[in-house]
Amino acid sequence: MSSEELIEAAKQARERARARFSNFKVGAALEAVSGAVHSGCNIENATYGLTVCAERVAVWKALSEGETGFSRIAVVADTDNLTPPCGPCRQILWEFCGDIEVILANLKGKAEVMRLGVLLPRPFDASFLEE
Ligand code: THU
Repeated sequence: MSSEELIEAAKQARERARARFSNFKVGAALEAVSGAVHSGCNIENATYGLTVCAERVAVWKALSEGETGFSRIAVVADTDNLTPPCGPCRQILWEFCGDIEVILANLKGKAEVMRLGVLLPRPFDASFLEE
């Protein structure tokens, strides 16, 4: 799948966001090594605090479908300054997806690619628990 197609999948997922409290819709599309793409959108609820970001919805969906390896994630929001994953999502992406490519994009055709390790330098993960 091209990066344009992955961005398009994230855009479509964004349309399904349940963001009635923030009105800030985010979509994500996580590509597995298998070639499958698992999408996610942010889901807010009336307690606010139980909100789950688009990225984590995509990761949980993929893991629960049995995926084990990942290559890229596209994240789309309607901001001029491209929206990056929040801190907790960076941690979850690192632990379950490793140093994947992160594609940030908006609705105006702006996009930027970076590795997760750049967004989360010196990460804590399970390797420390095994020392
Ligand atoms: N949000 C995401 O889904 N992903 C991000 O990368 C940033 C923030 C969501 C959480 C919340 O529903 C809304 O955007 C505003 O923070």
